[in-house]
Amino acid sequence: MIFLKDFLESAEAHYFVGYRVHYYLFTDQPEAVPNVKLGEERKLIVRKVPSSNRWQDISMGRMAALEKLTEELDNEADYIFCFDVDAKFYARWSAETLSHMVAVIHPWFYNYPREKFTYERRPESEAFIPADEGDFYYAGGEFGGSVQEVHKLTKTCTEKQSIDRAKSIEALWHNESHLNRYFLYNKPSKLLSPEYLWRDISAGTNEVKVIRFTSVAKNMAEVRPNI
Ligand code: GAL
Repeated sequence: MIFLKDFLESAEAHYFVGYRVHYYLFTDQPEAVPNVKLGEERKLIVRKVPSSNRWQDISMGRMAALEKLTEELDNEADYIFCFDVDAKFYARWSAETLSHMVAVIHPWFYNYPREKFTYERRPESEAFIPADEGDFYYAGGEFGGSVQEVHKLTKTCTEKQSIDRAKSIEALWHNESHLNRYFLYNKPSKLLSPEYLWRDISAGTNEVKVIRFTSVAKNMAEVRPNI
């Protein structure tokens, strides 16, 4: 909850300004949602989700929540983006990002060789990617596209996560691993550069000229229920 106010206020300043935007917030604490003034045609819808004592389950739970949401939104919206909330906008993010299936290149791996990508490497997992495959390492905290495509993606990842769970295997980077596997066989139609998801804002760079959106630096022990 500590990240939400900044997330929303910065989104109001930079994210699809001038468009109709509905934010869907998934939280275990709906009563603690701060009041943020939103522009015209913009609203916040809060959905309660169960809490968990493992951040890995909270992170993976987004796929099932989004599968359900995209089913409901089928006739109501054209595009949807999913974001981690511990993040902030700093510059325009708008219609240039729209496409059927949008992936974001992970800000720590854009200049790494493929063998360094932290894909799931155990063949027993549904997220497995063989050593000589893979195009990019994509970020798990941000993806989007048409409501129909995001529905297919989240439905597939939910299924694959439950197959893994039944086999008592958990992919190395949870939903990020499953997302990377999905994008290997269902290529994104648009890639966003790390301009659209940089590291913490204080991590300077000469390579990314405009920083549009970043993760927020945090003390993991303070914000996660487990390590
Ligand atoms: C880290 C990031 C994790 C995960 C990991 C993948 O930088 O904090 O969330 O994406 O990279 O190796």
